[in-house]
Amino acid sequence: MTKIFKGNILFTPTPEKFTIIPHGHILVSEGKVKAVYQKLPEEYRNLEIIDYQDKLIIPGMNDLHCHASQYKHMGMAMDRELIPWLENYTFPEEAKFQDIKYAEKIYQRFIKEIWKQGTTRIVVFATVHKESTMKLLDMFIQSGLGAYVGKVNMDNNCPDYICETLEDSLKDTEEIIIKYGDKSSLVKPIITPRFAPSCSKKLLKGLGDLGKKHGIPVQSHLSENRKEVQWVKELFPDADSYGDVYKQYGLFGDTPTLMAHCSLSSEEEMTLMRENNVLAVHCPASNLNVGSGMMPIRKFINRGIKLGLGSDLSGGHTPSLMKTMVYAIQTSKIFWVNSEKQMDFLTNSEAFFIATKGGGSFFGKVGSFEEGYDFDALIIDDGELNYLDYTLEERLERFIYVGDDRHILHRYVRGSLIKEPVL
Ligand code: GUN
Ligand code: FE
Repeated sequence: MTKIFKGNILFTPTPEKFTIIPHGHILVSEGKVKAVYQKLPEEYRNLEIIDYQDKLIIPGMNDLHCHASQYKHMGMAMDRELIPWLENYTFPEEAKFQDIKYAEKIYQRFIKEIWKQGTTRIVVFATVHKESTMKLLDMFIQSGLGAYVGKVNMDNNCPDYICETLEDSLKDTEEIIIKYGDKSSLVKPIITPRFAPSCSKKLLKGLGDLGKKHGIPVQSHLSENRKEVQWVKELFPDADSYGDVYKQYGLFGDTPTLMAHCSLSSEEEMTLMRENNVLAVHCPASNLNVGSGMMPIRKFINRGIKLGLGSDLSGGHTPSLMKTMVYAIQTSKIFWVNSEKQMDFLTNSEAFFIATKGGGSFFGKVGSFEEGYDFDALIIDDGELNYLDYTLEERLERFIYVGDDRHILHRYVRGSLIKEPVL
């Protein structure tokens, strides 16, 4: 199937600037972008044209770190820092996912929410529970959105009611990998040690081995909070850094790897990330809410570390990657001011690049309208915001800062229009 999408096209092949094609055309074949044209070549005139007129066409949003199981707590419980926050609020909530009916109820709402917000691909943590994790995988497959779904692994330093045995943790993880590894090209499992403190060394080693055996990517948390970093030093005195703990067990770039937060990463840890091609997921809203401090994103950019953005619900309170971009820009300005303007703040195009092509790289060729990329797109109907002589770049900036889901008319994943999921 080959089609033409027509409208005002904006995307970021590079972080430096937007590529903007007013009233342009995107040629899409079998779900992939073939070419983008200002003027449609004569030979394509007879193809079906989906004409979005004066609306904006932008790449879909890629949320690289989010806890689907914490959706009920979105926008609450912000009065503790990480470890007590986990113990008092998060672990008791996640324990409820033992009940598959409860899981289904929350996951239904969660998937509808992220669909609404224009997230077309996402990487999520579920819980330790095998059945409800498989339910989430099935629900994502049904939704048409793209996702990596992780069964959380934790067998150490956690309350009994949510703690796994080493054997069950590895067995359940492998069962999910075997069942879902090749079931869908859009929805896949991901190895998910919760974070180093909640995993025994044997579990970390077993997960690293599983990742390599089945070629499965890895996600976890890294250097988020001061007490957590100190705790990791005490638990793993032989490691050169927190990241080195994961590295020692084959969970740091041995297969494609995401690490969320990295707020307190040392120079050494950043070098290790760069060397191992580990992608750092910036979660600015969550870092503010859980009081963890903030990732100095410019340092990561300067070192050439791959970057994506994460909503990190429910440490984060907003599922919107647009609002996450705004937090990323705003918090980068604090580093800019505090460094006497030595550390440049994030520009709009840089933030947009990270949310689209940067994060999208984890899913393959995703997040841009260059040739060969999956056509993942949002159609933005910003008429209400666009009542005077705004340029296209200004319209996009206003949609990101003051727009919301009401301005998202349509969502596409790999060329297919994705309607509100019926789950
Ligand atoms: N570190 C370990 N678990 C979590 C979690 O659920 N949320 C956040 N923000 N950090 C974590
Ligand atoms: Fe998280």
